[in-house]
Amino acid sequence: MAGGGATVCVTGAGGFIASWVVKLLLSRGYTVHGTVRHLSDEKTGHLKRLENAAGNLRIFKADLLDYDAMAAAVVGCQGVFHVATPVPSEDLTDPELQMLGPAVTGTTNVLKAASSANVQRVVVVSSMVAVEISPKDWPEGKVRDERCWSDREFCRSIESWYPVAKIISEEAALAYGQQTGLDVVTINPGLVFGPMLQPTVNTTIQFLIYFLKGGPDPVKNKLWHIVDVRDVADAMLLLYEVPEATGRHICAPHVISARDLLDLLKSMYPDYPCIANESILDRDHPAPMTSDKLKKIGWSCRPLEETIVDTVECCLRAGFLDHVGGETSCRFPPLLNQI
Ligand SMILES: NC(=O)c1ccc[n+]([C@@H]2O[C@H](COP(=O)([O-])OP(=O)(O)OC[C@H]3O[C@@H](n4cnc5c(N)ncnc54)[C@H](OP(=O)(O)O)[C@@H]3O)[C@@H](O)[C@H]2O)c1
Repeated sequence: MAGGGATVCVTGAGGFIASWVVKLLLSRGYTVHGTVRHLSDEKTGHLKRLENAAGNLRIFKADLLDYDAMAAAVVGCQGVFHVATPVPSEDLTDPELQMLGPAVTGTTNVLKAASSANVQRVVVVSSMVAVEISPKDWPEGKVRDERCWSDREFCRSIESWYPVAKIISEEAALAYGQQTGLDVVTINPGLVFGPMLQPTVNTTIQFLIYFLKGGPDPVKNKLWHIVDVRDVADAMLLLYEVPEATGRHICAPHVISARDLLDLLKSMYPDYPCIANESILDRDHPAPMTSDKLKKIGWSCRPLEETIVDTVECCLRAGFLDHVGGETSCRFPPLLNQI
């Protein structure tokens, strides 16, 4: 499946991860059909300015719940990168409407569209949250790999809707592949940091901004798995191009607790107030996840410090780290305290 000249579709193209996927694909000579919900300059301007975009990027307006619009974007494509899923920065008021519908029905729509267009392979972006949350039948201290699934019913019982949506949609995507013969592979990224191409701050970058600026919300001393957005894009292209890639792929190389991450940020950026040590609430650390399966097909990643430096520089340039200690209240996205 290697090689430029092919046409591929990227869903949610204007988002944080998808924008880097579009950039990488265009740089490798692919023609890209990018779907966005809104054709505004905020969602598409940064894509149109990418190298090779003028000739090789077509933008389609498509909501995940609109099968016909999605199918129109996938026609003529050999591959699909299904990236779009809501990643809300605020609490949900209607989980079915705001999360489960777009994530689950949306994924099914994309897969059906891919089948009708005779697509060769679909790379579906799942998440670490489908791997690491209270997995059933997984020994406590055992390193988590692709056989490990988060406990969907536990997540539902605590109304943690983002993980519920990611678990169900990844299960459904893999099952759809098995039932229909469509070649579906999934990727499970950890917490994604890195420079942003889009002009607005996405939910996971708010994590880093909050740690540096400080604010009123307590955070859990979770064992985080961090990965650079550029390395996620590389992994996704590899998963598309390497024929033997199959099933799930954890993409979560840097393991660090919230407390250790805070110490690292304080040592790198002593001029920022950072969150208070006391606002980090203790919790048990389960065994980490391994990204070995991805590494075995040739994936490598940059060091965590480089990712942090590049993220902070990007935020500084865009003014997202202004108003430290000022009137603008900085909040920790609730979703990130639920996982
Ligand atoms: N960031 C992370 O740490 C991380 C980690 C693991 C997995 N992921 C997964 O990676 C993917 C991208 O996340 P991201 O961090 O790049 O977040 P993001 O920037 O918020 O991107 C999400 C994208 O999904 C689109 N979208 C949401 N609802 C939609 C709908 N109903 N119809 C069509 N498009 C819709 C958004 O479009 P609008 O801009 O119009 O809202 C946006 O383009 C998601 O599947 C997420 O679950 C992210």
